[in-house]
Amino acid sequence: MVLMALILKVRMSLLYTSLALLLCERTFVLSRHGQWSSEKKSNIQNNDDLVTNLPGQPNVEFKHYAGYVTVNEQNGRALFYWFYEAWTLPDEKPLVLWLNGGPGCSSVGYGATQEIGPFIVGTDGNGLQLNPYSWNREANMLFLESPVGVGFSYSNTTSDYENLGDDFTANDTYAFLHNWFIKFPSFRTRTFYIAGESYAGKYVPELAGLIYERNKDPSMLINLKGILLGNPETSDAEDWKGLVDYAWSHAVVSDETHKTIRASCDFDSNDTWGNDECTQAVDEVLRQYKEIDIYSLYTSVCIANSAYSESKALSVMFKKTKSNMMPRILGGYDPCLDDYAKGYYNKPEVQKALHVSNGLQLKNWSICNMDVFDGWKQTKGSVLPIYKKLIDAKLRIWVYSGDTDGRVPVLSTRYSLSTLGLPITKAWRPWYNQKQVGGWVQEYEGLTFATFRGAGHAVPIFKPSESLAFFTSFLLGESPPSHR
Ligand SMILES: *[C@@H]1O[C@H](CO)[C@@H](O)[C@H](O)[C@H]1NC(C)=O
Ligand SMILES: *[C@@H]1O[C@H](CO)[C@@H](O)[C@H](O)[C@H]1NC(C)=O
Ligand SMILES: *[C@@H]1O[C@H](CO)[C@@H](O)[C@H](O)[C@H]1NC(C)=O
Ligand SMILES: *[C@@H]1O[C@H](CO)[C@@H](O)[C@H](O)[C@H]1NC(C)=O
Repeated sequence: MVLMALILKVRMSLLYTSLALLLCERTFVLSRHGQWSSEKKSNIQNNDDLVTNLPGQPNVEFKHYAGYVTVNEQNGRALFYWFYEAWTLPDEKPLVLWLNGGPGCSSVGYGATQEIGPFIVGTDGNGLQLNPYSWNREANMLFLESPVGVGFSYSNTTSDYENLGDDFTANDTYAFLHNWFIKFPSFRTRTFYIAGESYAGKYVPELAGLIYERNKDPSMLINLKGILLGNPETSDAEDWKGLVDYAWSHAVVSDETHKTIRASCDFDSNDTWGNDECTQAVDEVLRQYKEIDIYSLYTSVCIANSAYSESKALSVMFKKTKSNMMPRILGGYDPCLDDYAKGYYNKPEVQKALHVSNGLQLKNWSICNMDVFDGWKQTKGSVLPIYKKLIDAKLRIWVYSGDTDGRVPVLSTRYSLSTLGLPITKAWRPWYNQKQVGGWVQEYEGLTFATFRGAGHAVPIFKPSESLAFFTSFLLGESPPSHR
């Protein structure tokens, strides 16, 4: 039924699009003598979402679009996206959707404006700086704030906020894609990849799995070719084992604490946190991590910034209300950077330029919505079964890991991947960037795993040049550079 309704909606909207196309044709002719005159006209039919007056934006030669896409008309749910055409030859380059995690954190606040987008929010919270290593050098980059409640995305039905979870998010993101293609029809059949980090380690395979299933109906086809995952939450049991072993092997906790965990914690059990000894020992790990930046072990915490007040930094990251409850830790939280983005995205002129408000009734943007995080209703304990399905479907799957992250450490990812038992196709070796070792790579049948040497949780923040080079390899389906 839902599927039928969606198809119907797609057909209806196609009708509207043809009408819109007619109107746009004229707009195009008018702008022919402007700076876009050399562009092929087929590219974008939707000019309403074109961003033209973004405060503090550096001059660039590519176009970018931002605005809402309705994903559920009945309840009034709309998701906010920001789309940057590729720097050059956008008609020939693939389309990549980027997702951040949390759950509850914004792909615009993290991915687009701190990690891999072309405009990085300056530390004064006013201007934007051009990012020379932006991933839209190589692909058309689509950033989405999902689910509703995150960033600018919203629902007009408050009860929606009580039902948020993995499946809800995958469903809405799937609906988003189809409706977005109506706005951007030239991308409808484009080679498509999904990338993300942290809690998006769940979102990305879940969405890919959903696309794979729905693609069995040719009228719903999305040309998905692969997924790219950075420091991804993957399997709760393996993630926890990796977190505690990494804390011990990186001298964050004592031998005694680690021994107690080894002896008393059964992370594969559905009642791990019913064991007091285990819970107390894991609490000790988290207590030690509160002293430093769990997302980047060897960088300084930002004491000078007023944003890093004890209460905020410590209580925000860890959620645990009962002693036998699984401690939950937000994926990817950087108190040093948080406030810059918040300052910028709550400016009236910025919200107007991005088509989220009229500049008078403002939306209240924050980088992570803790109500979404706290209220998360449903999560998949492991997405490894989905990996298996996607590997069988011959999708390209690359997983990378910044090796100084304590939150979803490289050990967690290695434990998870080893449960897949994939045959090794190429021996473990370093990969290079600018004559230095970027990290190590292990190629398996159906999956490529690589580390980023000296990078924290949000890898591109720490290693922008390496990240862009690695992303380029991923898009080409070629092993990362094997020579200096
Ligand atoms: C939500 O409600 C507002 C105010 O009525 C309306 O303008 C907006 O279009 C609605 N959003 C959706 C997605 O239906
Ligand atoms: C997601 O969509 C499927 C198929 O339409 C539906 O059966 C399921 O109930 C939805 N789940 C949520 C949480 O919305
Ligand atoms: C754990 O799973 C077992 C069987 O698989 C079930 O009997 C038990 O009630 C579960 N315990 C909890 C705390 O969910
Ligand atoms: C915006 O949201 C924050 C919580 O994220 C809240 O503390 C603040 O009061 C809100 N501001 C407005 C103007 O609604």
